[in-house]
Amino acid sequence: MAVDLLLGLQWGDEGKGKIVDVLTKDYDIIARFQGGPNAGHTLEFDGIKHVLHTIPSGIFHENAINLVGNGVVIDPVIFKKELENLSKFDLDIKKKLLISRKAHLILPTHRLLDAASEAAKGKAKIGSTLKGIGPTYMDKTGRNGIRVGDLELENWQDKYRALANKHEAMIDFYDVDIEYDLAELEREFFTAIERLKELTFIDSEQYLYDAQKEKKTILAEGAQGSLLDIDFGTYPFVTSSNTTAAGACTGLGVAPGKIKEVFGIFKAYTTRVGSGPFPTELFDENGETMARVGNEFGATTGRPRRCGWLDLVALKYAVRVNGVTQLMMMKGDVLSGFDKLKVCTAYNYKGETIEHLPFNIEAENVTPIYTELNGWQADLTKMTEASQLPKALNEYISFLEKELEVPIKIVSVGPDRTQTIHR
Ligand code: GDP
Ligand code: IMO
Ligand code: MG
Repeated sequence: MAVDLLLGLQWGDEGKGKIVDVLTKDYDIIARFQGGPNAGHTLEFDGIKHVLHTIPSGIFHENAINLVGNGVVIDPVIFKKELENLSKFDLDIKKKLLISRKAHLILPTHRLLDAASEAAKGKAKIGSTLKGIGPTYMDKTGRNGIRVGDLELENWQDKYRALANKHEAMIDFYDVDIEYDLAELEREFFTAIERLKELTFIDSEQYLYDAQKEKKTILAEGAQGSLLDIDFGTYPFVTSSNTTAAGACTGLGVAPGKIKEVFGIFKAYTTRVGSGPFPTELFDENGETMARVGNEFGATTGRPRRCGWLDLVALKYAVRVNGVTQLMMMKGDVLSGFDKLKVCTAYNYKGETIEHLPFNIEAENVTPIYTELNGWQADLTKMTEASQLPKALNEYISFLEKELEVPIKIVSVGPDRTQTIHR
């Protein structure tokens, strides 16, 4: 049996949460494979909006099992809040939410280290969500981390103390002004740990292996986007995990050959939150319109998202790195009303025209080269069938499909579950 994979192709916030929720009815298991509470996945149905950070986006479906995989980093404090937000729904959390014993824990001092590291960087800061993601993955690869399974051992608090003490010395080393009350943070942390321990911990790679044997359908849910990938993103302005397809193998223990469909999600334009290069970024009223109509504010931090035209050079790169088999175009409705739309099809790179993503895409090296397409005026948000889509939008879609060489199977025309057109 195969595993399907869904991931963001840009700088995150493409609409992964919405589409996972839409697709969950076809799957038995939804499994997050990387990232942590730096993610904010929004889904809307029945007039209510939900933002999930660590919990997979299939949680509202009655029959789906939701798994937090080994590649995820969990902040027990944020996790507890997420569970509290879910408490008003009648969900059997113990049964339908499973946690990998191999997932790593974000400690309060990881969050402080994130803040200290960013403060020390000054102007060169990453624009991190400050959720402790980088320091936690550093401890994972440095072989110092604490995992969910450790909580079942007697002496895990000794390990905790040793690591937290080391972190405190590291925070001092940064020599920046950060005020904190570790005792208070620890009280909150240990309370949250007790809540976490009420959940079901599993050996998730074995669980997924058995599930495949039993012909269960599995959808792996990515967080962030390909351009934030630690290897393939716009380093160093990236997150600290592999957000691309290979991350699902290491983040869940699924063999590469078992992955079937790779669903790639992108916005009809581009957004980015945090620092780092963004060749097609707009500083004019077109960018402002995208931000306003698209309500482009981060679901985790509330920060305004930077907006710009669609960048096909970057998108092609992401399609190739991930081996995308089906595309999903989000937020087409936000572009309604533009007279003309621009799509970046090449870069002028140090005076030369190139069509691939170079090592360095800083503004001083790269100027986007645009193809202009006609805009559409119709309000898409009430449309439910592909046959209703305006001609200019169909032309936009055909142009992208030709450039990307992958079919666009879903066009999303609003945040709600129902505002989803299958092609
Ligand atoms: P994720 O991190 O990829 O899950 O995306 P986010 O939830 O951070 O950001 C996507 C935002 O766009 C959310 O506020 C969604 O409710 C909203 N959204 C998703 N699809 C559409 C769409 O097709 N049209 C509009 N207007 N909003 C959408
Ligand atoms: P979802 O899953 C958008 C960005 C941050 C920052 C960089 C590093 O909702 O798409 P980190 O906290 O990982 O140290 O931040 O990555 N970032 C995201 N941007 N969507 C996300 O997740 C993001 N997660 C991290 O803004 O630039
Ligand atoms: Mg998001």
